[in-house]
Amino acid sequence: MQRSYRVAILGATGAVGTELLDLLDSRNFPVADLKLLASARSAGKTLPFKGEALPVQPVDASAFEGVDLVLASAGSQTSKQWAKTIVAAGAVMVDNSSAFRMDPDVPLVIPEINPDAAAQHHGIIANPNCSTILMNMAVWPLHQLQPVRRIIVATYQSVSGAGAQAMQELREQTRAVLNGETPTPKIFPHPIAFNLFPHNSSLNEQGYCEEEVKMIQETRKIFAAPELQITATCVRVPVLRAHSEAVNLEFSQPFPVEQARAALAQAPGVKLVEDWQANAFPMPLDASGQDDVLVGRIRQDLSHPCGLELWLSGDQIRKGAALNAVQIAELLVARQWLSPQPQAVG
Ligand code: A2P
Repeated sequence: MQRSYRVAILGATGAVGTELLDLLDSRNFPVADLKLLASARSAGKTLPFKGEALPVQPVDASAFEGVDLVLASAGSQTSKQWAKTIVAAGAVMVDNSSAFRMDPDVPLVIPEINPDAAAQHHGIIANPNCSTILMNMAVWPLHQLQPVRRIIVATYQSVSGAGAQAMQELREQTRAVLNGETPTPKIFPHPIAFNLFPHNSSLNEQGYCEEEVKMIQETRKIFAAPELQITATCVRVPVLRAHSEAVNLEFSQPFPVEQARAALAQAPGVKLVEDWQANAFPMPLDASGQDDVLVGRIRQDLSHPCGLELWLSGDQIRKGAALNAVQIAELLVARQWLSPQPQAVG
């Protein structure tokens, strides 16, 4: 008989949280019991799961008792606040926030790339940054054939990365601008409708924003390649839920385009989208709601004999966040790295 698990979603009402709920259902994750946790603001709300309306509970210290698996997507502060309680309760926490990603004791996992790293967990497994996951999915199959020496990436990031309220802000601002109004930004520091701006996460003294630093450091950790040269420019664009990225790769020898195309065509979790005649390539609208990262426009970099250029779009909420987290949970189950806790009787 298949084991089933007591699961909690921390941040269940958010953009990623509601997708987690959907994926647990559609992928038939063996759920014995599901707890939906959010802030006190959500008390009284319900969310649908397998035809039932489940109550959302404000998180408190007793919320994790008897829980086997916590899927957390409620921001870094909330993850930091509850991690010890979760681990002490004997649950495994798959954390979508950046709180523990660079902690040497916390595996940072993309199941298609470094599944074995998950075995080293001490109660917490981190889900990488969304832009990092999407880029790594396209670069890893090539890196396997010939180690990449340098990555230069520019992102075109949808508003979903800033949460459900940011998605609402894009809808409302767009409507307001079309009505001839000048909306005041609330979630973002600048207007996002009919605009774009460099990612607004905090800047370091070298001029890189946090999002760019995440892409650099996390890729090195996931690839186990601390010396990998990588630089990023992250930009927020008025797209609802899928990120796109222009990626330039440098290898130590020429990398034939046809070989790259063949490798990506058979890579798990990647879909090659290239119609050169129609000039049609990955687009965020096509990537939205899809599990695969769409990759295309693979071409020789004319400025470098060992360079390749590619373009990708991937659903930020799915593979960039919720899907990767659920795949980590599935990996734990498949490898028997997640044990159901004995439940109190009586
Ligand atoms: P709530 O809806 O009650 O505010 P998003 O990334 O889409 O903005 O979603 C963030 C998620 O994190 C929401 O489910 C939100 O719940 C939850 N959240 C935010 N702050 C806290 C907190 N202090 N404690 C628990 N959950 C939180």
